[in-house]
Amino acid sequence: MPAVKVAPSLLAADFASIAEQIRMVETAGADVLHLDSMDGRFVPNLTWGPKIVADLRKLTALPFDCHLMIVEPEKYVDEFRKAGADYITFHYEATVHQHRLLQYIRSTGAKAGIGINPGTPVALLTDLIEDIDLLLVMSVNPGFGGQPFIERALTKLHQARKLRDERNPSCEIEVDGGIGLKNIERAVSAGADILVGGSSIFGADDPPAALRDMRSRALATRG
Ligand code: DX5
Ligand code: ZN
Repeated sequence: MPAVKVAPSLLAADFASIAEQIRMVETAGADVLHLDSMDGRFVPNLTWGPKIVADLRKLTALPFDCHLMIVEPEKYVDEFRKAGADYITFHYEATVHQHRLLQYIRSTGAKAGIGINPGTPVALLTDLIEDIDLLLVMSVNPGFGGQPFIERALTKLHQARKLRDERNPSCEIEVDGGIGLKNIERAVSAGADILVGGSSIFGADDPPAALRDMRSRALATRG
């Protein structure tokens, strides 16, 4: 079973002092940095592309988990990989050839991730699971931070874990959206290995303490 990890999402960070914000979560024990790229088409919001990722790459040695909320993500894989992405996660709903794209991402040396929206069933990944290194269950509709956790995601995490355990034990399962101390135990028990936290970390009064609490709660739950 993969180790449990906490991935702060920079969407909720203050970019006016981004170097400091990254240092803060790295020092507090972040395992991975989660970077949300949005195109204003797949989701109704805009963030950043490969240029910003490449600049941020100079600030930390933490693995970069690039979550692409972009239509036709196949057009951008090479650029994100060159910018320093360790995981490249696209959305099932954003491309026609998911299988081809997973294989292509792996061929670049990155871990291949695929995300599913709240309305997309885990069963649609049945014929892809061997080609997935990271299976992302969205627990909010993608596009914005600070939204409430959709409880149905717990059932989907169970289903994802079953599929993973049976067919691809090294695949990591990630949950993204509305994750914090109040639901981290349930998310880990249901099957999440990577817990993304945006507002619950950067929006906390004491972000390093919030991150440490989430991480120790997650590790204690996994046992
Ligand atoms: C939303 C993004 C998330 C976002 C989560 O589309 O994919 O990574 O930062 O934010 P919180 O943790 O505040 O729900
Ligand atoms: Zn995300």
